[in-house]
Amino acid sequence: MAQPYSLIIHGGAGALEDLKYEAGESEFKESIAAILAAGRQRLAAGNAALDVVEYCVNLLEDNPLYNAGKGSVLNENGQVEMDAAIMNGRDLSAGAVACVKTIKNPISLARQVLEQGDHVMLASEGALAFAKFCEAATCPDEYFITEARVKQLAAAKAAGRMTLDHERVAPIQKLGTVGAVARDINGNLAAATSTGGLVNKRWGRIGDTPVIGAGVYADNETCGVSATGYGEQFLRTVLAKTVSDFVYFKGMDAAAAAQAGIDYLVKKVQGEGGVIVIDNAGRCSAAQSTSGLIHGWIELGGEAHCKLG
Ligand code: GLY
Repeated sequence: MAQPYSLIIHGGAGALEDLKYEAGESEFKESIAAILAAGRQRLAAGNAALDVVEYCVNLLEDNPLYNAGKGSVLNENGQVEMDAAIMNGRDLSAGAVACVKTIKNPISLARQVLEQGDHVMLASEGALAFAKFCEAATCPDEYFITEARVKQLAAAKAAGRMTLDHERVAPIQKLGTVGAVARDINGNLAAATSTGGLVNKRWGRIGDTPVIGAGVYADNETCGVSATGYGEQFLRTVLAKTVSDFVYFKGMDAAAAAQAGIDYLVKKVQGEGGVIVIDNAGRCSAAQSTSGLIHGWIELGGEAHCKLG
């Protein structure tokens, strides 16, 4: 029998007050609402959670409001290097790409890695060769490198810092990393996360996003998780899997596990960021240690909600 579907998406964690410097709150709310509506249509039609999270992240990657795909932040050399990963809770299959350039939708390339099945993660030049083999859509550097991102990098360099996209070093900031978690009408969970990483990051740096268990995790027995924040802190705490473990070993629901994960992140490494979660009963939740987390959800086929804090 068909079960009620659930969907949660995020557009990064950060300081809400920074929103006024660039896109207004309404732009974020409108885009989150539109993506939830599109995702709802697919879930209601019986599409698999894995397809829906890929689709929702594609929409987030195509929107320059967000730090992923087209809106990716720049590294220390003024280049875009993106990470993405996707996981299927039905069988723990997963695919990830790290440090890729010119790929229009890194999450779809990660999906191809999952579908090929031989490997879980491909990086850099090897991932680009694989993209060619898969005939993945590519775009020239100009597609990704926007004036706002060039200014943001200059501000980070002037401050001598490597920053989260959602950290303010100058009045030019956007919010970061994107992600989606879904539970389909067959009760299958999936999660996906995609990012341009940190502003002014070192060339070749890979964050938590493409690392299964750090920036993304999904297991039908527990929950689906997508993370956003300082990648190094999420790597050191294996945060997405830690959230899943709170469900598996402690019997927590989505709300308790999300909060326990963030408490652990803060306690262990004073971490900054957030997580979105759907548990195996379709309950949606989010928690963050930052003042804001742009996210929206539909729980068990109900009303759509959007929250920036
Ligand atoms: N969480 C995204 C990154 O640190 O790259």
